[in-house]
Amino acid sequence: MRYEETARQAAEALRARGSARILALETSCDETAAAVVENGRKILSNVVFSQIDLHELYGGVVPEIASRAHMEACDRVVDQALREAGMTLAEVDALAVTRGPGLVGALLTGVNCMKGLAFAAGKPLVGVNHIEGHVSANYLTHPELEPPFLCLVVSGGHSHLVEVTDYGEYRLLGATADDAAGEAFDKAARVLGLPYPGGPRIDALAEEGNPEAFTLPKPKTAGKYDYSFSGLKTAFINTVHGLEQRGQELPKADLAASFRRAVCRELTEKAELLIRDVTAREGGGSRLNGFALAGGVSANRELRREAAEMCARRGVKLWMPEIPLCTDNGAMIGSAGFYRLMRGETAGLDLNAEPTLRLVQEHS
Ligand code: KG4
Ligand code: ZN
Repeated sequence: MRYEETARQAAEALRARGSARILALETSCDETAAAVVENGRKILSNVVFSQIDLHELYGGVVPEIASRAHMEACDRVVDQALREAGMTLAEVDALAVTRGPGLVGALLTGVNCMKGLAFAAGKPLVGVNHIEGHVSANYLTHPELEPPFLCLVVSGGHSHLVEVTDYGEYRLLGATADDAAGEAFDKAARVLGLPYPGGPRIDALAEEGNPEAFTLPKPKTAGKYDYSFSGLKTAFINTVHGLEQRGQELPKADLAASFRRAVCRELTEKAELLIRDVTAREGGGSRLNGFALAGGVSANRELRREAAEMCARRGVKLWMPEIPLCTDNGAMIGSAGFYRLMRGETAGLDLNAEPTLRLVQEHS
């Protein structure tokens, strides 16, 4: 039987059964990560091989280096994920791989690796949206979480407020007009001379600083629930340059704390506005199952604290992935892949990388 037919029949059987153990691979940026996940909720193994050391020298991810490193690491990382789950390739039910968004060469490496394995093993293959993976990290940490819920997706490339209306279905409610939150953190870190990746370094440094030391402007946006971080970033750069020109030593912890406060306040204030409006519209008894954080920036300590305070104020349940699941990992792709598989969405061997793939097309 041809691969397509074998895989289609296997996928149908899994759908009918309502369960699957999925081997997932993530290679969209600078982490080669593989995992085995059961029924979208239970992590059987989760292996992350970070390339940070390779890119640190250049102050950011070098696409060509990332692709090569993924190519070298893919097999090893997949092997290790299977080994740690105590399974062979023949024993997993399906395969999932990130198809976008991300660096094209990096994505292609992962997509090709998984196409080869799917073909060799005759298993169904699912192409996964990386951002959907970040949202799904919450399903791994919170087995009781079900859509619909509101979600703030904050990563290196995204700052979105969405309603997760169902598994695999989203309504975009707010987005950034310019920089993503993670990007803003990374740029601010660079201005302070902190090594890549900047977000976690700013976060750590900020814990020792005074967030009231510097006042940064409040961003202005056209849409009520939209974001903009470029003005904040410019103001931050000007503040730093001003201090340097006066020959003053940079109070880095205070600067980091002030910048982090400004970004996190903005993120939570817009989310609160949205929650307030949705709650008012629905007359208190909201049909939504709370508010979730997702993406690399959701590891930020201040964002987690501010979101907790805001949700307590609004009487809304807050969901956050556990810290290791906030940044890129294979388990989140395995979770998202499960729900796509259950919707009958499998890929053929013509699956391609989609560097500019979006979670939702337009504002609704
Ligand atoms: O979600 P992610 O791992 O990759 C993308 O899909 O983009 O997010 C990476 C981003 C980077 O910009 C990184 O600096 C930021 O998330 N980040 C943080 C923290 N941890 C990661 N930003 C602020 N505070 C953190 N603790
Ligand atoms: Zn990511």
